[in-house]
Amino acid sequence: MDIRKSTEADRVAIEKIHTKAFGEEKGPEIAALVNGLFDDTTATPLLSLVAVEKDQLVGHILYTKAVLKGADTPVSIRLLAPLAVLPEAQAQGVGRKLIEEGLDHLREAGVDLVFVLGHPDYYPRCGFIPAGVLGFEAPYPIPDVHAAAWMVHALREGVIGRVKGKIQCADVLDQPQHWRE
Ligand SMILES: CC(C)(COP(=O)(O)OP(=O)(O)OC[C@H]1O[C@@H](n2cnc3c(N)ncnc32)[C@H](O)[C@@H]1OP(=O)(O)O)[C@@H](O)C(=O)NCCC(=O)NCCS
Repeated sequence: MDIRKSTEADRVAIEKIHTKAFGEEKGPEIAALVNGLFDDTTATPLLSLVAVEKDQLVGHILYTKAVLKGADTPVSIRLLAPLAVLPEAQAQGVGRKLIEEGLDHLREAGVDLVFVLGHPDYYPRCGFIPAGVLGFEAPYPIPDVHAAAWMVHALREGVIGRVKGKIQCADVLDQPQHWRE
């Protein structure tokens, strides 16, 4: 399995991955979100990676630009959303590889922190830890019962603990329906 940056020619296959992975109810909304983010200038710099197996796209991950409001020192942050792996390719390490290769790219690009709202049993396997208790507020309030789903991964030492604030995401993601876990 290879991981590479996506191209314009991958757009339809990426849409299909999200539609299938998230299912009939949620899939079309997530696919539309991805398309919207590709065209959203406030999401840039954006990192879009695909997993390719035997010439077929089986997974996709998107990292988009975000801003930490209220931080007194400049900090470079990204948001991981969404991530999807085709049902038939799940539980084979594809999701993990997409996350880890993405984090490697972002580290090299000088990014400090990566945030995600996601499954609290899944992302900690890749080094994510609860973000709310560290002083990072999500763009929309996360109910206490889901607090553990709002997570951060530090790509550089010494940033966590030194900065706090509210995360401002790209315009297309800045809708309450995208912040319900
Ligand atoms: C979540 C998802 C991206 C994981 O991708 P994947 O390639 O199957 O994951 P990996 O192979 O890296 O990891 C598999 C492990 O994660 C676990 N896992 C998968 N989804 C999980 C979830 N929602 N919560 C907790 N653990 C999960 C599997 O049980 C498996 O555990 P094991 O290693 O102990 O057997 C994939 O299942 C998917 O596309 N799901 C539908 C869309 C979705 O929910 N996206 C994430 C939004 S936050």
